[in-house]
Amino acid sequence: MSDFAFNIPKNNFQDWQLELAETLLKNFNIDDHNLVDILHDFQATFGYIDKTLIPLLAKFFNLSNAEVHGVVSFYHDFRSTKPASYVLKICQAESCQAMGSELLTTELKTALDIDFHETNIAADITLEPVYCLGNCSCSPNLMINSQIISRLNSGKLKLILQNLKAAQND
Ligand code: FES
Repeated sequence: MSDFAFNIPKNNFQDWQLELAETLLKNFNIDDHNLVDILHDFQATFGYIDKTLIPLLAKFFNLSNAEVHGVVSFYHDFRSTKPASYVLKICQAESCQAMGSELLTTELKTALDIDFHETNIAADITLEPVYCLGNCSCSPNLMINSQIISRLNSGKLKLILQNLKAAQND
């Protein structure tokens, strides 16, 4: 365990710019993309769904603002604020639960002093739940930005937090 180390790049989201969003939207073909796909693409670019994007998408899909807002709020994956440099998603689905993710989640929340969908600003970490990462055979799983850490345990979790803290000073 002592040799466990990783180097995970920080999130590199663009600052929200309405003009950039309008340009990106022009590249989508309404026949090939549905609203959820486009929301995922925007979140991958900006890190969250800015509220000023709602009317743009409503116009694009010929929907009401309320309909678009309803889709955004239905999916837990969409954020309404920009996340920290590191987004930690700990799996809450059945296989990971069976392998101890509940206790690890409590440890993580306690160590960071935050709940799900919150950010520890000093640690530059946002904590979120996720419901299966498709890696059940190596449960329990944690995703840091786009990297999955498998077979998580208490010792590994402590090392991860130490690594992320050290990365703050890089
Ligand atoms: S249940 Fe956690 S990865 Fe599938």
